[in-house]
Amino acid sequence: MRQNDSTARIAHVFSGTFVHSTPQTAVEILENCVLGVDDEGKIAFIEKDKDLVSVSKIWGFETSDIKQLGQNEFLMPGMVDTHIHASQYSYSGTALDLPLLEWLNTYTFPVEAKYKDLDFANDVYTKVVRRTLKNGTTTACYFATIHTDASLLLGELADKFGQRALVGKVCMDCNSAVPQYKESQSECKVETDRFIKELLKKKYPNVKPVVTPRFAPSCSASLLSELGEIANNNKLHIQSHISESKGEVELVKTLFPGCKSYTDVYLKHNLLTDRTVMAHGCHLTDEELEIFHETGSAISHCPNSNISICSGMLNVRNVLKHKVKLGLGTDVAGGYSPSMLDAIRRTLDTSKTLTIQDPQHQTLTFEEVFRLATLGGCEALSMDEQTGNFVVGKDFDALRVNVCVPDGPIDLFPGEGPKVILEKFLNLGKFFF
Ligand code: GUN
Ligand code: ZN
Repeated sequence: MRQNDSTARIAHVFSGTFVHSTPQTAVEILENCVLGVDDEGKIAFIEKDKDLVSVSKIWGFETSDIKQLGQNEFLMPGMVDTHIHASQYSYSGTALDLPLLEWLNTYTFPVEAKYKDLDFANDVYTKVVRRTLKNGTTTACYFATIHTDASLLLGELADKFGQRALVGKVCMDCNSAVPQYKESQSECKVETDRFIKELLKKKYPNVKPVVTPRFAPSCSASLLSELGEIANNNKLHIQSHISESKGEVELVKTLFPGCKSYTDVYLKHNLLTDRTVMAHGCHLTDEELEIFHETGSAISHCPNSNISICSGMLNVRNVLKHKVKLGLGTDVAGGYSPSMLDAIRRTLDTSKTLTIQDPQHQTLTFEEVFRLATLGGCEALSMDEQTGNFVVGKDFDALRVNVCVPDGPIDLFPGEGPKVILEKFLNLGKFFF
């Protein structure tokens, strides 16, 4: 047993069943465990099959302070939404009748233009942060809009409600369909610099800026270069969209004729780094996936959106075979649901659909998808050294799940162990608050 040789004070102790992923094991179930959290929120110890009295003496806490999980309860890591448009939450669940490029022009850009109004922004951003937290999203990678002050407000709200977040002020200097919703290239640069500086100045422990070119069709080549430079000079995260729909891939070919592929557009502008996460990637070729692997860039798989606006189906198995980091995203409001449990279910549905089309396709297991929603998301956001599973020294970031609550959606039967309970939760579970 490790000794308490640090000066850390133990602030919380949980005892019971913990479920998490490791790089080697998609689902590891730790039964009869005790986990201590220090007063800085870091995991101080995890002990299995140990006598609680001796653990309490070593770590200096009272056994009466232990939070004992029930028979039908477990702790799991908080879920990670690697791609969500906070600004589109106001119309989530509607407007799913057009393909991507028309959908953007008809619904998205006119709504996003409204975030100049900080009262509107405050209402929607408060609701989206609270709603995603209620659904178990403890980490979110957000797109806001082009408006710096509203984007700063989103960061403030994530901090206030206790969500870990990357927040992106959207950059776009091309928009012929809705010309009032864009900035000039110089405004983009000045405002991105201001956004980064002001957000970092707040010193929120868990909220950081992410450089956010909307996607290649919305950005001039020189803006893309400038954003690559800003991100690389400041070692910041980068997020954008890539190869979501076939129409978009064709458009990018015409806009960037000198580039070999859509991936090459971002590569040439220094936007593919080991802190980059690109949403969708449904139509990437194997050659492009190799570039993702070489640069350490990640993909956010957004299955609800891919189906809802008929963009395509990402073959996650093929992405994983290329050893490309991958997390799940809701992509609200192209995806109609803000729930990561929905993203898990839609990921499994898409994988099974690919198997129906090609029986050789190796369907994802629920265990693998659980990992993608937790540790995989943290890897995709390059946060896995900080959180994502239960490892001593990492931030404690967890959901306490009880699958047997009155009027809940799950029934259990004799002999069902924690693995079955986890599977039922992923497929049938709901959050009640
Ligand atoms: N591509 C560029 N912008 C967007 C957006 O807001 N949503 C989706 N799904 N794709 C995009
Ligand atoms: Zn998106």
